[in-house]
Amino acid sequence: MNKIKIYDKTFVPYIPHDELIGCIDKVAAQINRDFAGATDVPVVLCILNGAVIFTGELMQRLDFPCQLVTTKMTSYVGTSTTGEVKQTLPLTTSLKGRRVIIAEDIIDTGLTLVAIKKILSEEGVADVKVCTMLFKKEAYRCDETIDYIGKEIPNRFILGFGLDYNELGRNLKDIYVLEED
Ligand code: IMP
Ligand code: MG
Repeated sequence: MNKIKIYDKTFVPYIPHDELIGCIDKVAAQINRDFAGATDVPVVLCILNGAVIFTGELMQRLDFPCQLVTTKMTSYVGTSTTGEVKQTLPLTTSLKGRRVIIAEDIIDTGLTLVAIKKILSEEGVADVKVCTMLFKKEAYRCDETIDYIGKEIPNRFILGFGLDYNELGRNLKDIYVLEED
């Protein structure tokens, strides 16, 4: 088994690349079904940095005209959430009156999602759908509906495929989990 070491921690293989791609195929098909025949141009809102690889894969599979918009939200330091979510880069364009699909790498406590939805409601968007590659159901403590879920995972710290540990590991093709001691 190819373990990897990043800073002080050891990670072991967890979700292979092919399985992640299968999850993305599944949510993309659901979104295509729901947005078929759209006469507007829905927005895919990529939440930087973690969702960048997921969003790239997802968008290649969407078959209706859509626009990419980004914003950066920050809450994690090391392997846990600080509980305080900050918007560290603003929306790249106004979303007033638009239909928005939020693209997240992972939803954990849900605090980031709540913060984004507040920003979008202040923007005056027409509609919001939420799409996440991974969902830590046991850690979730919010009421927001999550419309599209690639895969549910237990409450463990992971990295790879866009997800990081103190900014490292985003470039790994597979997802790794923190080794249990
Ligand atoms: P939430 O606000 O607690 O739902 O956390 C959402 C954000 O925290 C995600 O978009 C990720 O950027 C980050 N995050 C949550 N869990 C993990 C993890 O296991 N590894 C790396 N980043 C994570
Ligand atoms: Mg993120």
